[in-house]
Amino acid sequence: MSFLEAKGITKTFGGLRAVDRLDFAVEKGEILGLIGPNGSGKSTAMSMVMGLHRPDGGSILLDGTDVAGWSPNRIAERGVSMVFQHSRPLQQQTVLQNVLIACLPNRLLNLRVSPEQRDKAIEALRLVGLESEQDKWPSELPFAGLRRLELAKSLARDPQLLLLDEPFAGLSASEVREFSDLIRNLRGAGRALILVDHNVRSVRALVDRAVAMSSGQKIAEGHPDAVLADENVRRVYLGGAGSEHAGEAARIEAVGTPILSVSHLNVRYGKAQALSDVSLDVVDKGVTAVVGLNGAGKTSLFNAITGFVGAEGEISFAGKSLKGTPAHEIARAGIVLCPETRELFGDMSVLENLNMGGMHLAAADRKERLAFVEHIFPRLGERRSQFARTLSGGEQQQLAIGRALMMKPRLLLIDEPTLGLAPIVMDVISESIEALRRSGELSLLIAEQNMTFASRHADRIYLMEHGAIEWSGGADRFAAEAGARIL
Ligand SMILES: Nc1ncnc2c1ncn2[C@@H]1O[C@H](COP(=O)(O)OP(=O)(O)OP(=O)(O)O)[C@@H](O)[C@H]1O
Ligand SMILES: [Mg+2]
Repeated sequence: MSFLEAKGITKTFGGLRAVDRLDFAVEKGEILGLIGPNGSGKSTAMSMVMGLHRPDGGSILLDGTDVAGWSPNRIAERGVSMVFQHSRPLQQQTVLQNVLIACLPNRLLNLRVSPEQRDKAIEALRLVGLESEQDKWPSELPFAGLRRLELAKSLARDPQLLLLDEPFAGLSASEVREFSDLIRNLRGAGRALILVDHNVRSVRALVDRAVAMSSGQKIAEGHPDAVLADENVRRVYLGGAGSEHAGEAARIEAVGTPILSVSHLNVRYGKAQALSDVSLDVVDKGVTAVVGLNGAGKTSLFNAITGFVGAEGEISFAGKSLKGTPAHEIARAGIVLCPETRELFGDMSVLENLNMGGMHLAAADRKERLAFVEHIFPRLGERRSQFARTLSGGEQQQLAIGRALMMKPRLLLIDEPTLGLAPIVMDVISESIEALRRSGELSLLIAEQNMTFASRHADRIYLMEHGAIEWSGGADRFAAEAGARIL
């Protein structure tokens, strides 16, 4: 018998069968990959194993005991741990304290940390490569460091079964390789792992077996190569060959007057210099990409443009200086930011979130705009009345971009547009970017780590490293001249 065996597990939310009579199993020393389009039920399935959702039916055998419906604490005591996609460390506690708190006994009778617990926590930090950062504050860690911290919190509890929900999201190619090695070592140490991620190439390289889901059901299972070659899986998850070749952008050859010009921009947070002497031009009615690793300064640049952080230097939009212009007026002038953190209104419905975006539009205009957004993201139309916070990760990303589009921006800044999206949805976003380009109504500035995606669309690419622009040019030259620097 396998270490974990889920049999016929089902979960419904209202009228929706998020997971529908799903079977899967995982052995110790094995990595099972769970793949499928956004909203296919992957996170819900893992949450049921962890006890965060009570299954409506089916059984979850953990080492022979049916734990379906048990509380998360009891399931954790049996050696199951989940690493969530979003890092939410306690900011008032150091890195080490965060790990210690994560492994406090649930009964809280004894809050004193024993030397053994401390050793365990430090060992977990060593495993993830954070040992020398143990006394730092979480806010001092780079993005990948926070992901490592989440993993350390799980490892300190010495889990037998580790559930990883999109561990690679937001990591650079080299960070993904390092994380993959870490995960391989965990398998080598005899743990069972379940991995969910949309980074298809890395999942394929890492997992021993894959289960593909669609609309809550299993549609394929087996060796990852075979599952990814499966016709159904290609159709519902990977999309056409499109992701590799199609959509070669109708690039804007002669770059005329830029819609936005940034020159000699400097941003400091206390003593830290986030941007130094950054100059760039955003192609009017075209697509401009800023690429670079986490912490390179992309988000600071976006925040400076939209007036959320103060900056020295010059920013001009449509020929007018933005100096001293408050954020709300910048927004009114037509510069809209879709932040990496999405900033949705969780307790509002999908439709309410979209309408918040279109608030300033006349009713007829808003309706037309809504139809346009729901055409790009049909799922948003199907789920108009669902609370935003209950959407799947990729559905939330679609809503964030959709809401930004509702604002009818003249210049749309999207921070990491492809984060958490299934390949097939990336195709949809690709198509809509090209449709937006053809409509000639807006200019786009995107921050991306996904080079394939950035190169496919951008008329001009800027490579950012340590807060400075290190290279710029056309997408055709990028791979040869600068691509290697960010892999
Ligand atoms: N509490 C809830 N109420 C209503 N619907 C929900 C709730 N939780 C999840 N859903 C829906 O169930 C479906 C499955 O969601 P789930 O988060 O499991 O998807 P996923 O496969 O993890 O997707 P992604 O790859 O985008 O993260 C989604 O359509 C989601 O909107
Ligand atoms: Mg998910």
